Amino acid sequence: MKTNDLIGPTVIVIFGGAGDLTWRKLMPSLFDLYRGGRMPKKFAIIAVDRVPIPIEKLRRCFLQGVNQFSARGKAKTSDWKNFSAVVAYQQGDFTDQGTYEGIRKSFTEREKDWKTKAGHIFHMATPPSMFGVIPPQLAAAGLNQDRTGSRIVVEKPIGHDLDSARELNRVLTENFHESQIFRLDHYLGKETVQNILAFRFANPLFEPIWNRRYVDYVTITVAEEVGVEHRGSYYEQAGALRDMVQNHLMQLLCLTAMEPMVSFDANEIRNKKVDVLHSIRPITPGEVQRVAVRGQYGPGTLLGKKVRGYRQEEKISPHSKTETFAALKLYVDNWRWQGVPFYLRTGKCLPQKVSEVAIQFRSVPHQSFPAESRSDWHPSRLILSIQPEQAIVMDFQAKYPGPQMLLKPVEMRFSYRDSFAVTSPDAYETLLLDVMKNDATLFMRADQVEAAWEILMPVLNAWKKSPPAHFPNYAAGTWGPKAADALTAKDGHRWRPVK
Ligand code: BG6
Repeated sequence: MKTNDLIGPTVIVIFGGAGDLTWRKLMPSLFDLYRGGRMPKKFAIIAVDRVPIPIEKLRRCFLQGVNQFSARGKAKTSDWKNFSAVVAYQQGDFTDQGTYEGIRKSFTEREKDWKTKAGHIFHMATPPSMFGVIPPQLAAAGLNQDRTGSRIVVEKPIGHDLDSARELNRVLTENFHESQIFRLDHYLGKETVQNILAFRFANPLFEPIWNRRYVDYVTITVAEEVGVEHRGSYYEQAGALRDMVQNHLMQLLCLTAMEPMVSFDANEIRNKKVDVLHSIRPITPGEVQRVAVRGQYGPGTLLGKKVRGYRQEEKISPHSKTETFAALKLYVDNWRWQGVPFYLRTGKCLPQKVSEVAIQFRSVPHQSFPAESRSDWHPSRLILSIQPEQAIVMDFQAKYPGPQMLLKPVEMRFSYRDSFAVTSPDAYETLLLDVMKNDATLFMRADQVEAAWEILMPVLNAWKKSPPAHFPNYAAGTWGPKAADALTAKDGHRWRPVK
């Protein structure tokens, strides 16, 4: 099998190695990298967790995960046999220094076998409560010492609010250098999210109109059909604002609104994104009610099936006040975007899975077509479809064939499926490979995480202070609470109707 000669020998340690994220995302992605010939020639994976579990059982479980979740389909027996042979399990408590001594011993053994020093990646696929525990233990065992070879990966959520994010960043940077820390937001690994930069800055066509003179408003939607599934205990503490807006939607906003980068350097790109967050007009406590909407789904019908409400889900309080839907209106106070509203919305149990950014352009300055020719007319719109459809669609007006001048909206479409005959890698594949390559471009820096929390704190505080009076306020299978439609409608705008 082909290997990646550009990456040196690597040992990947996964804390939470027997957990859901490892099973659903990390192992399928590492295996896909392997069968795509992109893993280093010499590598090993050590799953670490508290539960006693025989390695053969764990490998069977990983294989089942690969077969169920891999974007590249089921594993060939021979590939799986070779790959799984380098997957080991170490049972250990994350608070016990003995666990880290065990890891160090495994490193020494591998390196002795390979007759060379290896890079060490520590991936925290654990509940967030462990994020502050593992780094000091790694440091105490001296496993943080190699500034270029040893790296730590932290999954979102980074903190629960601004203070806890600062505290976590403090613990991380006390034990690892910022260049060794990879804060992972899987949205950044999605092909279509990365393509926002390519689309905006590799084509001179759109940049001249990408500003307040031509753009009327922007909507960013990340809608999910699924409810909380089996993640009730986590979600009860999080809610939609923390779970989705603070990270995924803020990333989409940054990429849409940022200034052109000078070079494709990790810090340069991250600087430009942080600039956007720093330009967002702070929300005052008195404004929260006008610019933020929260919702919780009740029982309803989704995709033709009756589904239960949030309060009836597993591990959810029957009186829960947690929001499963959030919408926000933000302004980016800079020269480019002054006065252009950015509306963000996300929710669970919505009618359709769709993530997209819609740029709504202004109307023509003077309408010269007669009223009867433009009954169906609306100003042009550009839709960056992140998922499930991977596409960019320009929505504009054309003359309907016939003797009269009749205007009809039409679409000009770039679709990944039609243009490129390859399967897009899963976001985790891209991101795990980047960690191995020591490329932090698609990872969050401490200041970005904190700036995003800073924007949301007034909303979180106001919502905490006045609990929602009318939850549930939308039925599963609908597009969220009415107030979300009113948020755009009162400015004469609207969310893009999704088909
Ligand atoms: C995760 C959230 O970060 O993203 C989940 O914790 C959510 O609640 C998921 O379902 C959505 O990811 P994707 O890639 O399916 O849009």
